Amino acid sequence: MADLSNKDREAARLYHEVTKHSYTSVRSNPHRLDWDNRPFQYKIYPAAGSLAMPRELELPSAATAAAIAGRAGTAGGADRTADLEEITRLLFCTGGLTRSRTVNGEEYHFRAAASAGALYPIEIYLAAGDVDGVEPGLYHFSPADLKLRGLRRGDWRGYLAEAAGCDDLRQSRAILIFSAIFWRSAWKYRARAWRYCFWDAGTMLANLLAVASADGISAEIITLFADAPVERLLDVDGDREGVVCLAALGRVPDAPAAPFGATPPPSIGLDTLPLSANEVVYDDLVKMHRASRLDSPGAAAELRGARLPPADAGGAAPVMLEPLRDDETSELGATILRRGSTREFAREAIDGTELATILATATAPIPGDFLPLVEPFLIVNAVDGLDAGVYRFHRAAGNLELLRAGEFRGEAGYLCLEQPLGSDCSALICYMMRLDDVLEAFGNRGYRMAHLEAGVLGGRAYLAAYSIGRGATGLTFYDDDASKFFSPDDPAWSPLLMLAVGAPKRRVNRDSDDG
Ligand SMILES: Cc1cc2nc3c(=O)[nH]c(=O)nc-3n(C[C@H](O)[C@H](O)[C@H](O)COP(=O)(O)O)c2cc1C
Repeated sequence: MADLSNKDREAARLYHEVTKHSYTSVRSNPHRLDWDNRPFQYKIYPAAGSLAMPRELELPSAATAAAIAGRAGTAGGADRTADLEEITRLLFCTGGLTRSRTVNGEEYHFRAAASAGALYPIEIYLAAGDVDGVEPGLYHFSPADLKLRGLRRGDWRGYLAEAAGCDDLRQSRAILIFSAIFWRSAWKYRARAWRYCFWDAGTMLANLLAVASADGISAEIITLFADAPVERLLDVDGDREGVVCLAALGRVPDAPAAPFGATPPPSIGLDTLPLSANEVVYDDLVKMHRASRLDSPGAAAELRGARLPPADAGGAAPVMLEPLRDDETSELGATILRRGSTREFAREAIDGTELATILATATAPIPGDFLPLVEPFLIVNAVDGLDAGVYRFHRAAGNLELLRAGEFRGEAGYLCLEQPLGSDCSALICYMMRLDDVLEAFGNRGYRMAHLEAGVLGGRAYLAAYSIGRGATGLTFYDDDASKFFSPDDPAWSPLLMLAVGAPKRRVNRDSDDG
């Protein structure tokens, strides 16, 4: 495969085009799942030493909406120390096992954040520097047995700061590294799986950011870094397992900064168990990931200054809806344990204040090197206080614009791959981006960032919905049909992710974890 450059924007355009779903593509190119070759959901290092994590955890009691929007916890969180319990709480709430179900004698595990197809392609590594009870080193988080597996000794914060071209990272207490093992998702979604990996990482980040904010520990998402040094640190090849983002935890401005570490680390020298008998490589997926790599810390630092064209100010006749008060949303820990994907909606209305809570909470600023690239559009099927129809939520202005009034339940069901969840929900949110603007500003890397951001918004909307006793489900979609439906006069808008919200057929109890 030829060398691909982040600036060759045709790579993302082409990948986007060839991985679109349409009414005809899903019929003319069906995919039979090979259950005998299903990838294992856990990355196992059999010979690595392990550190047990505390199982008696106090989960965050802050109101969910306040935690997501950064209104909970102590201001800034700069002086909050981190210890093993804090790290465990963050990791458990981000990627831990929260439920299991036995079907035909086989046990299925479900995790804290939603994942398309419950395939869980995302791995988390911890570069601990200043964490009480954890020796400085690189660890792999093992959700199956709630342990940290030791991969390398030493303080890698300076090394990661250098890779990201971002000095500040040296003053974080720890850095999480999120990677995707593409085959886990590609087993079902083939080349399109690359998109799903970024959405899935986004839903996990939604939980991480909310818990960190509730606990008063700062957290920042870093999407701009040179890929090769981070891959070298994790000892992954970038094609089979690629790095998705970093998350800096805690910040101590007056502590001595961790030193830069310029020496490339040697191989970890630890085997991992195979995921399945035979891993299929999808060239389009590999090319997309390669084409969105940054080849130097300087390239990452340069993109940090990129800007988008100004967002428009909002519609001519904005509809303002008042969200619920923070204390009307349940405790964050309980929300995370209760969250699941709604399998059937009751075709009932939710209140306008509830929809406003979901939209506003999800679109609160994301701490990190993000610019808002994603804008929510929606079909309102049944929301008290709003006419049924197609709307755009203007993120910057915080208001809704009615684009077309009318009953669109049939279209909503069709657009999300003909799933009744779309027609039965109260509102179908479609997170969209302006693809050309994103690529112009950030190159192919912008395509990564937009998918990740859509995942964060979707993950937050899941939490907000469950925190008020409502339900939610992430959904995939027919790309071009969704563009034409939501933005018939401006083809620049492309859909990134859909999320159905509404009244679940089975009631969710706002204050218990048995919903
Ligand atoms: C990006 C994304 C896309 C999804 N797409 C669908 C979908 O098209 N249809 C569906 O029924 N569920 C979909 N889901 C929900 C997942 O199937 C669900 O998260 C997974 O089974 C784990 O279960 P849980 O969310 O109840 O923990 C999606 C979830 C995500 C995060």
